Amino acid sequence: MDTIWADMRTGIDTSLMEKAGSILRSGGLVAFPTETVYGLGADALDPEASGKIYSAKGRPSDNPLIVHIHRLDSLGKIARHVPEQASVLAEAFWPGPLTMILDKSDQVPHSVTGGLDTVAIRMPDHPVALALIEAGGGFIAAPSANTSGRPSPTTAQHVRDDLNGKIDMIIDGGSVGIGVESTIIDLTEEPPMVLRPGFISIDMLRNVLGDVRMDPGLHGEDPSFRPKAPGMKYRHYAPKAELTIVEGSESNVRAAIDRLAREAISRGQTCGIIAADEDASSYQAGIVRSAGSRAKEITISQHLFGILREFDDLGVDVIYSESFDTPQIGAAIMNRLIKAAGHHILSV
Ligand code: TXA
Ligand code: MG
Repeated sequence: MDTIWADMRTGIDTSLMEKAGSILRSGGLVAFPTETVYGLGADALDPEASGKIYSAKGRPSDNPLIVHIHRLDSLGKIARHVPEQASVLAEAFWPGPLTMILDKSDQVPHSVTGGLDTVAIRMPDHPVALALIEAGGGFIAAPSANTSGRPSPTTAQHVRDDLNGKIDMIIDGGSVGIGVESTIIDLTEEPPMVLRPGFISIDMLRNVLGDVRMDPGLHGEDPSFRPKAPGMKYRHYAPKAELTIVEGSESNVRAAIDRLAREAISRGQTCGIIAADEDASSYQAGIVRSAGSRAKEITISQHLFGILREFDDLGVDVIYSESFDTPQIGAAIMNRLIKAAGHHILSV
């Protein structure tokens, strides 16, 4: 299949957007930018179309998709009922990086929800995404537009690297703003439960909802608590290299990573280092990539997945990463990093 490349970095191209809409309405796949990561879209109300998403990504069919909408009154069509909490959250955070889990209506095929009777819904904060959802009929199922198991794409080129020839169109909207996937909150639980941390922190959710808890399955390796979101149980974002997170005081971390990098190099290994801007220049060995500044945490979330992909392309053998426990997005950054590291953390 020839994948059409649609450049919309400087604005919406109306004729290409019409083309994208007709691809979606006839059951095809279009990758598009959102404010979090790139998504791979299909008509959510067409069971066959969303089925194609699973084969293009190589995604397990029990892992449900998020349905993207562009206007609030669309909620009522795909949710069985809209609780007050959903309206409050939508008012506070939509369009934006928040996904809500609600009971699904009969309109939503079980192929989209991985067989569940609930549906994940999000209104993204990106002009190209909103225009595409409208052009495609208003209900677009979209997971992240990566091959299953690779880091989520934060540029259209990342999408091309994974899915070229397997999907109908890629819309290039430039680099994304946030770089980690949306926060997921489950409103079918009482109190509401965060299934995946993102840019919208648990404190921000508590400010508008009151009581909110974290899915206990997210935290550790305790097998008696499984994450509720099916997608959170997979070892996502796995780089090809062995990744270790080093945590502790800043000076201890710098010293330990420097020593570990030198040891790896002397064993003949290629070593990548993920550091904050504030520390990057202190490393003398290894391939150092600065994620961003601790003082501006969104720069770290923006660059994290791209760095993991770059280290894959460079074929590094081992990666040592600083820990990025920043106030708002830190929980999301560390959730992704810890999974990429397969829980391999070194305290120094
Ligand atoms: O930022 C985002 O959310 C991006 C952009 C494209 O919108 N999308 C995204 O989709 O990250 P995906 O498919 O990569 O992640 C969706 C997550 C998975 O972990 C899935 O298991 C969970 O949401 N999920 C979807 N529906 C669910 C449901 N009904 N109950 C529990 N978890 C659900
Ligand atoms: Mg994903």
